[in-house]
Amino acid sequence: MALLAVETSCDETSVAVIDGETVLANVVSSQINLHAEYGGVVPELATREHLKNLPLIARQAMEQASLAPSELGAFAATRGPGLPPALMVGWKFAQSAAYSLGLPLFDINHVEAHLYSPWVSGNPQRMNLKDFQPNVSLIVSGGHTLLVLAREPMAHKILGTTLDDAAGECFDKAGKLLGLAYPGGPEIDRLAGKGNPSAYDFPRPMLGKPNDDFSFSGLKTSVRYFLDKNPHLKESDSELPNLCASVQAAIVDVLVGKVIRAAEREGITCITASGGVTCNRTLRRQLSYACEERGVALRLAPPSLCTDNAAMIGLLAEQKKKAGESPAEINLDIEASWRL
Ligand code: KG4
Ligand code: ZN
Repeated sequence: MALLAVETSCDETSVAVIDGETVLANVVSSQINLHAEYGGVVPELATREHLKNLPLIARQAMEQASLAPSELGAFAATRGPGLPPALMVGWKFAQSAAYSLGLPLFDINHVEAHLYSPWVSGNPQRMNLKDFQPNVSLIVSGGHTLLVLAREPMAHKILGTTLDDAAGECFDKAGKLLGLAYPGGPEIDRLAGKGNPSAYDFPRPMLGKPNDDFSFSGLKTSVRYFLDKNPHLKESDSELPNLCASVQAAIVDVLVGKVIRAAEREGITCITASGGVTCNRTLRRQLSYACEERGVALRLAPPSLCTDNAAMIGLLAEQKKKAGESPAEINLDIEASWRL
């Protein structure tokens, strides 16, 4: 029987329908345009938008999957981490639906769902954990930057994390300083395509440090100081792409350098990457060069599953169900700071 999954941890309202290991429907409604004028996600607006849209998105997902509620056998929802009021909307929706139909509800950690999305491929999309190889995984999004060692499915150890800003946050804050629309990540990616990554020399924080942690707030500050001294550059049509390419190169060098070094040290021959920043074309290209050079396998989450979506929540829930994990107690609360 199928499983209905709900994701509302930040500014995407998403519902997916999963049958075993296959995605039957994955409807994602992004609120990016709503938050753009504020330059970041406004929690109350995000929550109200989830409240308004979630029932419609759920109906749309069921229609796409051509299923009736009586054909569902389980529910799953993101229980954390995320914005507390936003999480509550999706969690309570799934809890109520599961209760009223007398079905189990699986509580899923959003970051763990990102961790498994590189194992999804094909059309229709399927999660293939039988292909699983021990891997070092880079999870890079607007809220998270983690290096994780996964020696076997459903078992992982955090190697490192960011001490301050996440990689996506650094893209977005640099984008704001450069006068780009929110979110800055995709805009920097687009403009950097026409620029020279060696035009300006920005720092590669923590790259030389012998640990797996990250720190991106210093890079953002150095972009700010540089632009304060050279305000004309971001107004120049020829220099803006060079600035974007140079900032992007600094972030990507750190991410690629650290994940490769961790894999070599751990004796691991597979690297995976997921989260919104994994949409970045230069990151995807540099990871694939670096892995090819070293004979390391690379699995990148498909771009449609890099940013937040309910398919990754449902696919992980199905794996947990198959592994015999128990569903959530009916009165379980959200956990906004739930660690991986
Ligand atoms: O995974 P996600 O949708 O949400 C979180 O869980 O945070 O990631 C959103 C982040 C944003 O910071 C956005 O700027 C970044 O992913 N992002 C990108 C690109 N596409 C999305 N960053 C760089 N290049 C991109 N192409
Ligand atoms: Zn995410």
